[in-house]
Amino acid sequence: MIWTVLLLVNGILFFLLLSNRSRSKREPPLDKGVIPWLGHALEFGKDAAKFLTRMKKKHGDIFTVRVAGRYVTVLLDPNSYDAVLQDSGSLDFSRYAQVLMERIFKLHLPNHNPAVEKAIMKQYFQGKSLSSLNSSMRRNLQALVTSETLPNQKDWKSSGLFNLCYSLLFRAGYLTLFGAETNNNSPDTRQIYKEYRTFDGLLTKMARTTLNSGEKQVAGEARESLWELLSAAGLGESASTWIRHYRQHLQQGGADQDTQTRAMLLQLWATQGNVGPAAFWLLAFLLTTPQAMKAVRREFNRVSLNTAKGPTLDSCQPTPVFDSALEETLRLTAAPFITREVLQNKTLCMADGREYDLRQGDRVCLFPFVSPQMDPDIYQEPEKFKYDRFLNADGTPKKVFYKGGERLKYYTMPWGAGGNSCVGKPFAIEAIRQFVYLVITHLDLELCEPESGLPAVKTSCYGFGMVQPEGDIFIRFSHRSCDGML
Ligand code: HEM
Repeated sequence: MIWTVLLLVNGILFFLLLSNRSRSKREPPLDKGVIPWLGHALEFGKDAAKFLTRMKKKHGDIFTVRVAGRYVTVLLDPNSYDAVLQDSGSLDFSRYAQVLMERIFKLHLPNHNPAVEKAIMKQYFQGKSLSSLNSSMRRNLQALVTSETLPNQKDWKSSGLFNLCYSLLFRAGYLTLFGAETNNNSPDTRQIYKEYRTFDGLLTKMARTTLNSGEKQVAGEARESLWELLSAAGLGESASTWIRHYRQHLQQGGADQDTQTRAMLLQLWATQGNVGPAAFWLLAFLLTTPQAMKAVRREFNRVSLNTAKGPTLDSCQPTPVFDSALEETLRLTAAPFITREVLQNKTLCMADGREYDLRQGDRVCLFPFVSPQMDPDIYQEPEKFKYDRFLNADGTPKKVFYKGGERLKYYTMPWGAGGNSCVGKPFAIEAIRQFVYLVITHLDLELCEPESGLPAVKTSCYGFGMVQPEGDIFIRFSHRSCDGML
């Protein structure tokens, strides 16, 4: 009894200590919000972009907010991002990543060594191995895109564009990385996609632990179905060498069968969760900006090869117009938080000479979506899609941007930056390029309601990579008779 009382008193004291925190002179402006303990959690979770833009106006480009009992220092000055990204000694990436692994995937890896896992992955997503993954992805995409319409079928089909892009890229990505056996024993990729979308739809709530009881049940059931469907993923001959090596690494580290399957779901999300949504936004922008679509078609036409199997994208040719349109799409729709945990008290030195103390146990969060990506001091009319924003007048890629007279090292950051930036970037870019090429070569497609414009962003997605649309936009498509010209 006495222990229970002591624990309770301790808990209350700890709670009061957290609630009563006050700012010392050398710390960033502190904004605890009015609700005890929760602080700004509700506003943050509802629309992080809006909330952080409001806080930036109130406090400037560095401030600390209270979010569900945690103190998070938000840094929004891209010229100072290196002070966070290059200090892996005091600011740790993997602790928060492990919290999410547990919350979302119920995964606890024995002998977990993120650096070794990353090194394994890097080895397979560059050089010759990357070329072979790209070829396999191209073949899978070609088979799936062409099977959507048959050559003798002139009827129009209709579909939600988001669903079409996500499902085709997800299924091609699954076949490329996780493999499928030809003996009919492997699960149907459509079924995996269906369960995955249910799981994915609730993922941000899982990460924030804000699922209601009904949602908890739906998420739990989808997770269990996916575990079942993925139990043999990456074991067969058709799986990529990366996933086979990763499975072996897990086995050697003492992970049982069940844990390995959970790790497969984590990898499925890490490799497939952003590519489909990115391709969706790019096609949606192209379909609603005829001038951009024309420029991309013209470029694709120039680098197209006519082979016996029909037109193919020459993968050795540069495509600066497409690259600029993709960069612009990602500037507008990639919105990851870059979060680090403060392992020991430290002083953060900003680019303009200001210095702020950070407390051990707090988190630091960069949100490049607010700055640099949507910063009006860097980009004119930042909310507009301008396909050639990342092109110089002579058609070469534009890489020079300024803020306050200073040249920016980080002018857009869809792939993260520093030691923990995206390992799959070249694979993802090539997959999206091939996909957009195949879609506009093989399909005649048009918007069902051209006047409706783009769907709104699901604002609760901010912070988790690519944003997703609220609802979908509908398109009609039919087989395009290919004469090699786009
Ligand atoms: C459009 C597609 C993609 C986007 C926008 C994207 C974005 C990102 C971002 C922002 C990070 C850094 C997270 C942080 O610093 O906290 C990241 C990390 C990572 N990405 Fe991607 N990604 C994409 C596709 C892929 C693909 C296709 C793969 C693998 C095939 C992949 C594998 C990874 C891995 C393994 C990491 C963790 C790196 C580490 O542990 O340090 N990503 N990605």
